[in-house]
Amino acid sequence: MGTARHLLGTDALAVEDATALLDRADAMLVTWAGSPEARKGTLLRGRTVVNLFFEASTRTRTSFEIAGKRLGADVVNVSAAASSVTKGETLLDTVRNLEAMRAEVIILRHPASGAPSFVAARTGASVVNAGDGTHEHPTQALLDALTIRRKKGRLAGIVVAICGDILHSRVARSNAILLTKLGATVRFCGPRTMMPREPRAIADVQLARSLDEAAEGADVLMMLRIQNERLGGAMLSTTREYSRTFGLNARVLARAKPDAIIMHPGPINRGVELDTMLADSARSVILDQVEAGVAVRAAVLEMVTRAA
Ligand code: NCD
Repeated sequence: MGTARHLLGTDALAVEDATALLDRADAMLVTWAGSPEARKGTLLRGRTVVNLFFEASTRTRTSFEIAGKRLGADVVNVSAAASSVTKGETLLDTVRNLEAMRAEVIILRHPASGAPSFVAARTGASVVNAGDGTHEHPTQALLDALTIRRKKGRLAGIVVAICGDILHSRVARSNAILLTKLGATVRFCGPRTMMPREPRAIADVQLARSLDEAAEGADVLMMLRIQNERLGGAMLSTTREYSRTFGLNARVLARAKPDAIIMHPGPINRGVELDTMLADSARSVILDQVEAGVAVRAAVLEMVTRAA
């Protein structure tokens, strides 16, 4: 099992810890496939886990909540929109109040890159990054790695094309860092205006000039949503133009390996980055990702509470 008290990013995550988390999450998925009783544990009984979300979320928040409950923890959800943040309370004051209520784990999603590290340095609670600005989304990368490993049997040597709004995507960053650490080959592809200036500063990635090139011989096609909320101005001509150039369709998919899988962190903008038929096809593992997410988050909760 992993050994860290916080999970702030994939950058600081040791390969052994990442592998231990994937192994543990994999074992949980096997156990949970049994009876409903097999899905209820007691390891975190008496512990309080707070989901503190300053940005919208469906999958991440819900899966952390289900994960915590499966381990027997008490899980509380705080959404910034309905909290005293709207009355001017600072992030740190909010966290200190949660700590005073003996929250042992704070799952934080925040629009500012670095917010989880800032909080982790100033609280006695364990902090788990559930997505910070354009920076990192470590549990997403772990659940993606687990999904690929379960589908392909390994990560080493697997070619993963990550396509779309790389510049604003914490999912792309965390995946590039984690997957390359675990031996996969990562290719980035997207419009020039949505590419980081120095993509190789993130990880040792390949750069494809087109979606066709990125798809060529790939084992995995990971499509990303345009992060409209982070664009701050018009960066792209039209949605139709985007889907024609960077949207995954059957023609592009034919360039990938015959058994290539389609991934997406959600939320999908159907018909923009991904053809709607493909999203629902047998090649899509999008809902397997969601299932893996609960197990990965449970494994992370185990790790941070053990280390605390
Ligand atoms: C992603 C996110 O919030 O970064 N969603 C998720 O957690 N599954 C991706 C996105 O919003 O496009």
